[in-house]
Amino acid sequence: MLNKNKNIGIDIIYEEDSYHIKTHYNEYRNLMMLIYDNLYPDDFGDCMGMGKCGTCLIEILEFRTMPTFLNRNEETTVQKHNIKNKNTRLACQILIDEHLDGLKIKVLK
Ligand code: FES
Repeated sequence: MLNKNKNIGIDIIYEEDSYHIKTHYNEYRNLMMLIYDNLYPDDFGDCMGMGKCGTCLIEILEFRTMPTFLNRNEETTVQKHNIKNKNTRLACQILIDEHLDGLKIKVLK
């Protein structure tokens, strides 16, 4: 059963700097929006979460429990960008829920 009151801490590496960002269930529509709103990467999330542009690529470095993925257009987009690393995912296809607590990612920009 989903714990919607749990605080969620995520470690993000972006441009050689590390950030620890706290959030909670559904504060953002997805991980792309959390990154966009906190770190302001240029040209990030161009399709606003449709899973089509490939500008929100992240690498999952560590996780405690498997994130919840939407899988909307992700397979096609990842193939289009010729990505072979299974830990490289679209941030827009990852939901903000308790499974993200302890997640460590790198923004691939
Ligand atoms: S925002 Fe376009 S693929 Fe994620």
